[in-house]
Amino acid sequence: MKRQQTDVSRLKSEGDVNLTRTRTDWSKRNIDGEAQKWLDEDSKYFLHQALSTPCLNVLTSCDGIYIEDIQGRKYMDFHGNNVHQVGFGNHRVIEAIKRQMDDLSFCTRRYTNLPAIRLAKKLAELAPGDLNKVLFCPGGTGAIGVALKLARVATGRFKTVSMWDSFHGASLDSISIGGEEIFRGGVGPLLPGSEHVPPPDPYRCLWGCGGECDLRCARYVEYVLDKEGDVGAVIAEPVRSTPYIPPKGYWEAIRKACDDHGALLIFDEIPHCLGRTGRMFTFEHYDVVPDMVVIGKGLGGGIFPMAALIAREGLDVAADRALGHYTHEKSPVGCAAALATIEYIEEEHLAENAERVGAYALQRMADMMSRHRLIGDVRGLGLLMGMELVKDRETRERASEEAERVMYKALDRGLNFKLSMGNIVTLTPALTITVEQMDEALDILDECLTEVEGE
Ligand SMILES: Cc1ncc(COP(=O)(O)O)c(C=O)c1O
Repeated sequence: MKRQQTDVSRLKSEGDVNLTRTRTDWSKRNIDGEAQKWLDEDSKYFLHQALSTPCLNVLTSCDGIYIEDIQGRKYMDFHGNNVHQVGFGNHRVIEAIKRQMDDLSFCTRRYTNLPAIRLAKKLAELAPGDLNKVLFCPGGTGAIGVALKLARVATGRFKTVSMWDSFHGASLDSISIGGEEIFRGGVGPLLPGSEHVPPPDPYRCLWGCGGECDLRCARYVEYVLDKEGDVGAVIAEPVRSTPYIPPKGYWEAIRKACDDHGALLIFDEIPHCLGRTGRMFTFEHYDVVPDMVVIGKGLGGGIFPMAALIAREGLDVAADRALGHYTHEKSPVGCAAALATIEYIEEEHLAENAERVGAYALQRMADMMSRHRLIGDVRGLGLLMGMELVKDRETRERASEEAERVMYKALDRGLNFKLSMGNIVTLTPALTITVEQMDEALDILDECLTEVEGE
């Protein structure tokens, strides 16, 4: 089961790996003695893994759209693990947390508390349709596990359909439905009955749609549901972080297929809920309501680990089971953080800001595409944006090395973002970002692309 050697080219994933030559070169140029001392300590005590340790650098503060390293360099953080809808260190969230810590800092099991009840009610109000029963978890992966269990109990079926290239968390159940080799490989048997289908990636569509989608990929999901006959749930991100933005009609077709075949539709909105795409929930861009939606990450204001499963009323069918049972399930502090976060998003109209600044950025990115041969596509929904770098627009060969060079050059100039699938510059800033700050970031990207193209 043990891998002999890491083949980095296979590790295309959600994030950029820490094993490459460009990364080592960047570190040699940019990490001073003090930072290196701490990185060595980190490397000594943490288990090593491809998407974190050994780490790139040491952070000492974060504020708004920025992070700052131990050498005093500030970066606009267009990565932020998608927790920073309200900006880092949001004062309203911090105040709410502090107040709650003074009153009730923990809620012993068998009891409930007011922030938890208020948050459950708020989420039920925000979510459309009859999505009005919730369960909290201290992390997204756990909430995905709860959704999978509830789907089994509710349908009496254990099979799932999910997507290649997807990510739903790092635990054994969530990597079973996930579609990334870096998580799935080398760990032995995964959950039985976890079927996978191709994601709606317009340029690598197995049916060769080339962006002119005729929904054959959605119809393939229906085909699998029909052939299997006993699938309990289809689970997917409505828009994958890469981003793959399915065309109108895609989710509508899959929703109908689920209904026709007795499968539940579960959306994983852990990274994008609460405004990133310009709507509170990403699926609101489509004319569908899922049976369950899982949210997380920024729910705790980028400070407190919080996630929630929101299920439709009719799925309250497991009263005699323990679905979640997480120690910090109804955390009063986490719930206070989440309530303050949602209040801030609503009062500051952050979803509207995401839509406005995102549309502006996408226009600028399209202009950059007309000038940079490396850019093979730009796409986005609100402030979830991607720029795909290719060696050739015809063959669409991934320009992964070039993308890495662009990324490290951008870091030199104070812009942090991640690469998805090796070659997609993925841009997800705080939703508080202004047009001026967006311009500054895109100017940096523009310069870096020019430099790499000239090398
Ligand atoms: C789509 C998606 N699902 C699930 C998860 C797992 O969430 P957590 O890290 O909070 O367990 C993530 C985290 O990156 C995610 O992006």
